[in-house]
Amino acid sequence: MNRTLQREMAKRLFDHIDAKSTDRAPAEMTLNEADYVDAAQAARERDAIRLRPSLAAASGELPAPGDFRTTWIAGVPVLVTRQEDGSVRAFRNVCRHRCATVVAAEAGNSKAFSCPYHGWTYVLDGALRVVPDGEDSFPALDPADNGLVELPVAQRHGLIWVRPTPDGPLDLAAYLGAEVDREIAELGLDDYHFLRGQTFEQPANWKLIMDGFLEVYHVRYLHPKTVGKITIGNVFIVDALGEHLRMASARKDIEKLRPDRENPAGEQPDILPGIILTYALMPTTVLVYVRDHIEVWSIQPHETDPTRCRITLRFLVPELPQTDKAKSYWERNWDTVVGAVHDEDWEMARRIQAGLDAASVNPMTLGRNELGLHHFHRHLAGMTGS
Ligand code: FES
Ligand SMILES: [Fe+2]
Repeated sequence: MNRTLQREMAKRLFDHIDAKSTDRAPAEMTLNEADYVDAAQAARERDAIRLRPSLAAASGELPAPGDFRTTWIAGVPVLVTRQEDGSVRAFRNVCRHRCATVVAAEAGNSKAFSCPYHGWTYVLDGALRVVPDGEDSFPALDPADNGLVELPVAQRHGLIWVRPTPDGPLDLAAYLGAEVDREIAELGLDDYHFLRGQTFEQPANWKLIMDGFLEVYHVRYLHPKTVGKITIGNVFIVDALGEHLRMASARKDIEKLRPDRENPAGEQPDILPGIILTYALMPTTVLVYVRDHIEVWSIQPHETDPTRCRITLRFLVPELPQTDKAKSYWERNWDTVVGAVHDEDWEMARRIQAGLDAASVNPMTLGRNELGLHHFHRHLAGMTGS
């Protein structure tokens, strides 16, 4: 992160800490409870998400030719494969015969993918190679027209992005916008290594999981023993960068990074070690920079059920662990993060979901301090035309 931005963010955070304030919206905002349960709203959201890039994998997850990864993007089953020439391609993971899901495994390495229903077999570039009993039973079928449906894909900042609508190329730089693109590049994401990843299915609307990343008002109450212990509650700076958000909260040890009071014009020390820096890339991806690693979160709605979602967490680290000590350090780190979200944030999301009433006419009120949610829900309303 460049020095000017660091200085600016440090000043805003220290000013808020001193004034016990936070970034705030001009006024409160309301949300509809029903939007978290309504099937028609969920369908509008899936349609909108399908028109934009979603994170499909980390580049380091598929290092070798034949490596593949499957995922779901807004209900579309997606297969990403590493080609012999090192490039990546993405496909609808849907058989052209009668639409079975071709690849069931989450990840692996293979030169070909056989559909489990009738054995139609596709190769890495999606081409259809084998149709059992093809000559006799499918005399009119042209295999060249029946490869897996290719989806636009892009690799940038060490991440693989897919738009599950096959409609022209995917311009990731344009999607990120110049500022976010530059800031992520400055974090050096490209030089990080993929450590591990896991997908979790949760009985909660995907927006409840996103909401949890977009304010720190809850931290003191929901996370007193975890993240609340290391960060300052209710101090949050939130900036809209085009359609995305940059947010930062302060760690308690940020105090060590205060510019010298005797010399306030002196050089501001590097602020990154004192903050948790989050980019919410609208609408389904969240990058969290946490001092010694980067968490990449992908939150996708379920293909049919508004009360379920899929969350994928990936850890990117500056260096892959070589020693047992380093390995167990990362294992503990991973378990702590997964434990905290599962038992605290997602537990809250599950409880909220269980208590939602589709017929409720009472609005939910977002405080002025829940500024990130204002942006996210406005953005979503714009995307879905609701
Ligand atoms: S549905 Fe895939 S081979 Fe029949
Ligand atoms: Fe939280």
